[in-house]
Amino acid sequence: MYLNREQEAMLEGEMGEGKMLAMKLLVNIGDVVGAPHLIPISSAHISGVSYRTGGDGLVETLREFVSRGAAVSIHSTLNPCGLDIMQGAYFAATPEFVEKQREIVDLYRRMGVKPTLSCIPYRDDNIPGFGEHISWAESNAVVFANSVLGARTNKEGSISALCAAIAGYTPYFGLHILENRLPRLEVKVNWKVTIWESQVLGAYIGSRFGTQVPLFNMDLRFSVKRLNRMGAALAAFGDGAILHVKGATPEAVRKLPRFEEAIEERTVVERKEVEEFTASVSEGLEGASTIVIGCPHLDFEELKELYKEMRGRRVRADVRLLLFTNRVFFQLAKESGIVNKLKEAGVEVYTDTCMVVSSLPDEGGLYLTDSLKAYFYMSRLSSKEVRASPLMSILNFAME
Ligand code: F3S
Repeated sequence: MYLNREQEAMLEGEMGEGKMLAMKLLVNIGDVVGAPHLIPISSAHISGVSYRTGGDGLVETLREFVSRGAAVSIHSTLNPCGLDIMQGAYFAATPEFVEKQREIVDLYRRMGVKPTLSCIPYRDDNIPGFGEHISWAESNAVVFANSVLGARTNKEGSISALCAAIAGYTPYFGLHILENRLPRLEVKVNWKVTIWESQVLGAYIGSRFGTQVPLFNMDLRFSVKRLNRMGAALAAFGDGAILHVKGATPEAVRKLPRFEEAIEERTVVERKEVEEFTASVSEGLEGASTIVIGCPHLDFEELKELYKEMRGRRVRADVRLLLFTNRVFFQLAKESGIVNKLKEAGVEVYTDTCMVVSSLPDEGGLYLTDSLKAYFYMSRLSSKEVRASPLMSILNFAME
């Protein structure tokens, strides 16, 4: 892979050991994937923060980076961790978990990463523009950045995103190249989908077509912002990192060269298929004891909508209802009185963490969620029993 003079200096250690460590890994990745060179990036979003998923290996790797003086050179934000550090809510975490988790966040902070502890950087202060090259981990954020913002990123791993943030460069391959972003599959949907159905559609297409880039030809009744749910489901069930919606997402609207000519396959999805997929993850709500909402993290508008739906009602005595958001939207909701009112109604509101990466106990009954991404990972990364259902049916079940 070609390196310019500055990149060579990094690799030779002339710019410090931290940059050398980062550049070595980026060059290795670039060589493996056949990247011709590196490209500069304008922002990074780093996952691999929870002690639950990263364990001692993550702590040791980060200690190594910090001991070598590594520091990020571009705006970099951080995914959720395993605790609600801001409110001191530790769920079932052991003292060792709490200590190691705090150390992980501190190590990132010492490298200059902003501890936003949220998976919706694009709703906070990390909002890349159209065509900008970035290096993001966290699948929902990657799909949103590529699809809704028109920025360009591969689905990075935690350490590759960190190395890119330190060096300020990433290998030029995959979704950094326009040709690889063109749709190969047209998905025609002939009815007006709800937000829930859009998620199911994402999961269904992901599970059938994997990483093939889809162009959805459909009536988008909900806002583009809400595409994060659909993208999160697509990425969870099929590992995709980008989608387009005709007439809505920026690369589809701008009709990039050869945009529609690249399509190789076309499919029509009937409502019946979406209903069948829903039935496979739903199986009824009875017996649920913990309800988790906020995957991806809820924004202020969503918190307000939830509050409106729940106003005047209380959470059933035999059920826990947990909401997950980021610090910025928690603060806004707190200032507007929503957090206190939700808490008075028996709702728990958390920041910094989520239902998948937190230390919520595995045992203790059936979990319910309105998010297909949460359903996918909770069922696979833990022994939790989980079901997914549309938001309103879950709320009606949970509230008296
Ligand atoms: Fe975010 Fe956790 Fe879901 S990191 S996208 S809420 S699995």
